[in-house]
Amino acid sequence: MKEFCARHGVPTAEYKVFDDAIRAKAYLGDREPPFVIKADGLAAGKGVIIAETRREADAAIDEILFLRKFGTAGQRIVIEDFLPGEEASFFALCDGETAIAFGAAQDHKRAYDGDKGPNTGGMGAYSPAPIFTDAVREQTMEQIILPTLRGMKAEGNPFVGVLFAGLMITPAGPKLIEFNVRFGDPECQTLMRRLKSDLAPVLLLAAQGELAGAPKVVWDDQPAVTVVYAAQGYPDEPLKGSVIRGVAQANDMQDVVVFHAGTRTDSDGLLRADGGRVLNVTATGPTLRDAVNSAYEGVRRIDWPGGFCRSDIAWRALS
Ligand code: GLY
Repeated sequence: MKEFCARHGVPTAEYKVFDDAIRAKAYLGDREPPFVIKADGLAAGKGVIIAETRREADAAIDEILFLRKFGTAGQRIVIEDFLPGEEASFFALCDGETAIAFGAAQDHKRAYDGDKGPNTGGMGAYSPAPIFTDAVREQTMEQIILPTLRGMKAEGNPFVGVLFAGLMITPAGPKLIEFNVRFGDPECQTLMRRLKSDLAPVLLLAAQGELAGAPKVVWDDQPAVTVVYAAQGYPDEPLKGSVIRGVAQANDMQDVVVFHAGTRTDSDGLLRADGGRVLNVTATGPTLRDAVNSAYEGVRRIDWPGGFCRSDIAWRALS
């Protein structure tokens, strides 16, 4: 992705790739902390270490390249310049030629309150994201999404589908952190609760290369919030099998929908945890504060001693 960005002028952080720890550590000597050290391969959203000091950065390089903390995903590392700002997730629907802006949300990557603890796949989200203004959306389309679509086509790989741009909204504008070719989890849950028009026809038009004629996507003005309820031990070693009660009571709330992500129902009829991120308690409300309150009321109605969630989802937008 970083090489593609360089070829097509897509704004992203300066970087270098290494498979050699000595060279990687020498490179740090020329850069300013904090250092962003990433496993090059897929690591379920957990393969990034932000090192505040040279010492931490050296240790991260050793952990990934020598100790194989992320398995074969860490055969190579990418060292990037740290980008100041707030992260946002932006989704565009693409048909190979045309892209339409779909929606934006803000995720919470760290496991614990106050953005502390290990990185996760995402512990909660809200949409819309106040940081993602109309101006930022325009910049993102012009500087990131459309050049990417043109570049993919020019290189013989026209892209059709959902393009998920993980962005840092810096003082100098949006910069690309990563692309995924899917909706985000848990961002998608918030988008689906706000989407008023039918998604399927738009996806069909994308698949058929006819997005230019797509009807306007219609959104509810009400914000939506998702609180991820994860199994104790997540992200390292989530405990499976604990019994979950009360999901129906949460779903009884008018503004709440509980999406299942990692559950199973056993032959005894009991619902049990069967994954890391297990439930997504999603609420809408007239204001973001209302949506947050409803989501946490939904969480309170669920009786699951084997689970935990963050208690500060949407803190940036509320503060
Ligand atoms: N929540 C981030 C992702 O879906 O990759």
